[in-house]
Amino acid sequence: MIDLERVRADTPGVEHVAHFNNAGSALPPRQVVDAVVEHLQREAEIGGYEAAAERKDRWEHTYDAIAQLIGAHRDEIAVVENATRAWDMAFYAFPFQPGDRILTGHAEYASNWIALKQVADRTGARIEVVPDDESGQIDVSALERLIDERVRLVSLVHVPTQSGLVNPAAEVGRVTRAAGVPLLLDACQSAGQLPLDVDTIGCDILSGTGRKFLRGPRGTGFLYVRRELIEQLEPPFLDMHAADWQPDGSFSIRDDARRFENWETYYAGKVGLGTAVDYALAIGVEDAWERIQALASRLRAELDEIPEVTLLDRGATLGATVTFTVADVAAGEVQRRLAAERVNVSVMEAASAQLDFGARGIAEAVRSSVHYYNTDEEIDRLADAVRRARTSRA
Ligand SMILES: Cc1ncc(COP(=O)(O)O)c(C=O)c1O
Repeated sequence: MIDLERVRADTPGVEHVAHFNNAGSALPPRQVVDAVVEHLQREAEIGGYEAAAERKDRWEHTYDAIAQLIGAHRDEIAVVENATRAWDMAFYAFPFQPGDRILTGHAEYASNWIALKQVADRTGARIEVVPDDESGQIDVSALERLIDERVRLVSLVHVPTQSGLVNPAAEVGRVTRAAGVPLLLDACQSAGQLPLDVDTIGCDILSGTGRKFLRGPRGTGFLYVRRELIEQLEPPFLDMHAADWQPDGSFSIRDDARRFENWETYYAGKVGLGTAVDYALAIGVEDAWERIQALASRLRAELDEIPEVTLLDRGATLGATVTFTVADVAAGEVQRRLAAERVNVSVMEAASAQLDFGARGIAEAVRSSVHYYNTDEEIDRLADAVRRARTSRA
């Protein structure tokens, strides 16, 4: 059970806003803010390189914390600036050939799709979109049927940016593992929201971000690459952190996942990310997931009672994100009206989710997303504010 009083006391932001933009960037606990500020302060006092040396144990600990969070080893973790760069560093390392097949799903994220398409156009590989099943999640049997010896990679978004869907990652992992095809899991929205274990899921690569359900600093992210795959993947960019310049002019690439990092990095953010992961582990991700699901279903039920509201989320398992439209009121206008009442939500446009929103004819929607620190009263506030927003038509 989560000690709500304690986690809210740890979260200064809850004094100011009812924050339902956790899928965008969650409110950090003060422990995270303090860790970042302390590191920056130390850099100002003794110098950036000197602060990094003095506090090496703190930023090195971040690798242990992330490894613990996802059931990996520390040498399989790279800490980078965001989930997109993490995903890219692994994806662009695959040597695709003409005729290779890459499978993805309808939850695919805009930036991932753009990378897939760029690489497919350059190499002659083909992208194929696995259909959804009747519940709205990826159809695992269809995936199984689509796999053959030309499939080089399966890219799966665990929890999409635009809806509450939780894709059945472990079922997908069972299929990819049996076929010997690498599974690249985008866990950007699921890290910190629900329990993740790379062996249980059977994924080979996983990307995550700091600022969303982990409640870490902006500008932080991480990549996991399974040990056996690391040395097969040559990163698209190399520098003197990822590789060593040899006297004969050649270079040798390091053999751990830090080959996907770069030399200059945001040390204060790295320390903050480790603190955020420690905080998530101390709360307990299982407990967080249980509370998030309960809060999100309450929010869905309250919004569902408003006749002008249409809920958009599909899937057999639904998580923190609740996406909806309000009849005759633009999503941006709903967001503005709610912001005036100090309730934060965000707007999702089809350009973020062409395979889902685009395919379903949804141009835009309001995205609300709970975290375990939200309360029932805040959900009532959100629903009341939506009721008022629907009558003040734009
Ligand atoms: C599913 C998904 N993948 C990837 C990303 C990109 O994460 P980042 O902004 O940390 O690069 C997002 C961001 O919203 C996302 O929702």
